[in-house]
Amino acid sequence: MPDLVLHVTGARPNFPKAAPVLRALDALGVPQRLVHTGQHYDEKMSDVFFRQLGLPKPDMDLGVGSGTHAKQTAAIMVGLEELMERERPAMVVVYGDVNSTVAAALVASKLGIAIAHVEAGLRSFDMTMPEEINRLVTDRLSDLLLCTSPDAIAHLGNEGVHPDRIHLVGNPMIDTLLANIHQFDADAARAEYDLAGRYVVATLHRPGNVDDPADAAALVKAMHGVADQATVVLPLHPRGRGRLQAAGLFDHPNLKIIDPLGYVEFMGLVRGADAVVTDSGGVQEETTILGVPCLTLRPNTERPVTITHGTNQLVTRENLVQVLAGVLAAGRAETWPVPPLWDGRAGERIAAVITKYLAAN
Ligand code: UD1
Ligand code: UDP
Repeated sequence: MPDLVLHVTGARPNFPKAAPVLRALDALGVPQRLVHTGQHYDEKMSDVFFRQLGLPKPDMDLGVGSGTHAKQTAAIMVGLEELMERERPAMVVVYGDVNSTVAAALVASKLGIAIAHVEAGLRSFDMTMPEEINRLVTDRLSDLLLCTSPDAIAHLGNEGVHPDRIHLVGNPMIDTLLANIHQFDADAARAEYDLAGRYVVATLHRPGNVDDPADAAALVKAMHGVADQATVVLPLHPRGRGRLQAAGLFDHPNLKIIDPLGYVEFMGLVRGADAVVTDSGGVQEETTILGVPCLTLRPNTERPVTITHGTNQLVTRENLVQVLAGVLAAGRAETWPVPPLWDGRAGERIAAVITKYLAAN
């Protein structure tokens, strides 16, 4: 039996990154299995992506669900250890920076299984973010470091990673965007949410914004200031929903809070927006390609290429309202630079690197 490749996914941002890689390896005839850890499990946080992105039904679903970091990561590790010992893949492919990613890397490395990390080398240099810890550990354990941007390559070089293991492959999240862009219907989104004039799309879920009640209150105040300027549609992530509601988020008539959206519906809404306010990693990248001004409510970003090349800028809760006023007055840019290799072919490049590695090892 030729070498088996095992993909580990589990949380919403994993799915659009994995879809093009699975497709490209399939085209090369590589045997694959797809694992869903169950980190995310709501229909709109998980199943809808499998349907819309043409992902195969997972071969195994660990069903771990939510928990503290230790409980969730440990549950994923226990499930994956049994599974990897049984399946004995030649390579495990992990995506991004979520708990499912680091759990898979820890298990595979101790079983002596090669690891490919898609989206390696991103750094916020902010150790208060769980994702930064997950990135550092996963990269340290990975055999193939597949990077979306040149800054990631520089970070890995500074950390002493051998250049032979590092590959600039482009961004599979953007493969998914470009493959589906013909379905992103801004007019349908306007009709669905009754959006006559200018509108802003928002997403908020980072612990630094929503976990602490004082942070949540300050955030709500800033978001109400945004809603004073334009209608806001906010598909709200389940994390922090209760705290944001308690802080009064739902109390502004111009702020439409809705459940998380399917990928196609969400991107249709973003495509037609006058601006986006977010703390999401993926949304910083997607707005860069769509040319939608993106205001990122964070003190840092592990995706600086979306600022140097794209439409992104960092904002605080204190200056958000003022910055947004300037962005709305300026309107969307006609042209803007796009990061290198964000061209819709990252999945193919990743598949080529993986198959070359497997043939040589
Ligand atoms: C996780 C990732 C984060 C990523 C985000 C994308 C980690 C450490 N964090 O954060 O990097 O940006 O996913 O969305 O892996 N919940 C539901 N339904 C679900 C999933 C979660 O209600 O389907 C609720 C639960 O109350 C859960 C909370 O959301 O406790 C947080 O979920 P979790 O996966 O632990 O972290 P996220 O905040 O989603
Ligand atoms: N997304 C979606 N529906 C939503 C919000 C987000 O389909 O209601 C998509 C969007 O493509 C985004 C991806 O989910 O890039 C992952 O987003 P999330 O903010 O959850 O994760 P992050 O990128 O911050 O880790």
